[in-house]
Amino acid sequence: MKIKITKTTTPGTMPSEDQLGFGKVFTDHMFIMDYEAGKGWYDPRIVPFGRISLHPASTVLHYGAEIFEGLKAYRREDGGVQLFRPMENIKRMNNSAERMSLPAIDEQDMLEILETFVKTEEKWVPRSFGTSLYLRPFTFGNDESLGVHAVKSATFMLIASPSGSYYAEGINPVKIMIESEDVRTVRGGTGYAKCGGNYAASTRAGEKAMKKGYSQVLWLDGVERKYIEEVGAMNVMFKIGGEIVTPKLTGSILPGITRKSCIEVLKSKGYTVSERLLSLDELVEAMKSGTLEEAWGCGTAAVVSPIGQLAVGEDEYEINDGKIGAVTQELYDVLTGIQWGKIEDPFGWVYKL
Ligand code: PLP
Ligand code: COI
Repeated sequence: MKIKITKTTTPGTMPSEDQLGFGKVFTDHMFIMDYEAGKGWYDPRIVPFGRISLHPASTVLHYGAEIFEGLKAYRREDGGVQLFRPMENIKRMNNSAERMSLPAIDEQDMLEILETFVKTEEKWVPRSFGTSLYLRPFTFGNDESLGVHAVKSATFMLIASPSGSYYAEGINPVKIMIESEDVRTVRGGTGYAKCGGNYAASTRAGEKAMKKGYSQVLWLDGVERKYIEEVGAMNVMFKIGGEIVTPKLTGSILPGITRKSCIEVLKSKGYTVSERLLSLDELVEAMKSGTLEEAWGCGTAAVVSPIGQLAVGEDEYEINDGKIGAVTQELYDVLTGIQWGKIEDPFGWVYKL
């Protein structure tokens, strides 16, 4: 793939690394390429970061034809830069594309795009532990017509945002409430795809939870409203006695790369991990009897996020005295250790640039 690079004439400067936040600052450039049915992807280019122009009838604006990914470039202690399991994001993006009738991208081309782009933006990969360059690839349908059908034109872009440590003030376990009204997605729907509409549809519940003093919601399945699915925009895991349980991928859950990595780390350390249905009733029973020892969310942004309190209707349950548990801490240390190159990677997950 021949990527044309046009450098900006007005390069920006990195803000102080302790003030980065998440997704607010963008790098000097962005990657774009276009797609036409019959022609395929064409004109791959890196250009100065800036606004884009869309036809008002563009499919994405009306019918939500959009998919995205989220991964990070990490600065190692030796100054080099690495990605974490980028092929997993690339494969998931193509699965999302298939679900949303958007064009897939050749896996090797996508890897080359990520690599070339991160190398172009190298100065924007921050240096402190916990900080990273968040990469956001996305594809959207861009037909200039209001007809409802699989798109014939699409645009793929990659933007990047230097992001701060998720835990600038240390890991604080969060308060979560069960959402009993809205569901995130349903089986047969788009839950396993990373498409924009899933997030638009789930913000109402998140806002409601925040008004009540909680950080996020714990989603139940959309068919029976009985089984645990995810927490906010993260996968979720529980330590119940000697078993670590995470909801199995039934189609309505996003197959998280952090989830997959947690499972592999835990199994390598000898823990029993079950991917199975977990009902709210079983979870409440475990909280009442004291067998629920730890609960945490997992995702790229936060790595792991301990759940310190869970509200089920009017009943509030404290988990592990509201503190981060040993397994949650161990996962955090191993995953961040590998991602930031502080410890050896026995799994072959890092992709050095
Ligand atoms: N679930 C949802 C709905 C998400 O948006 C994300 C974030 O990407 C995850 C789970 C975690 O996935 P990953 O670990 O691949 O970031
Ligand atoms: C995650 O990385 O865990 C996320 O949920 C990403 C989010 C900004 C969509």
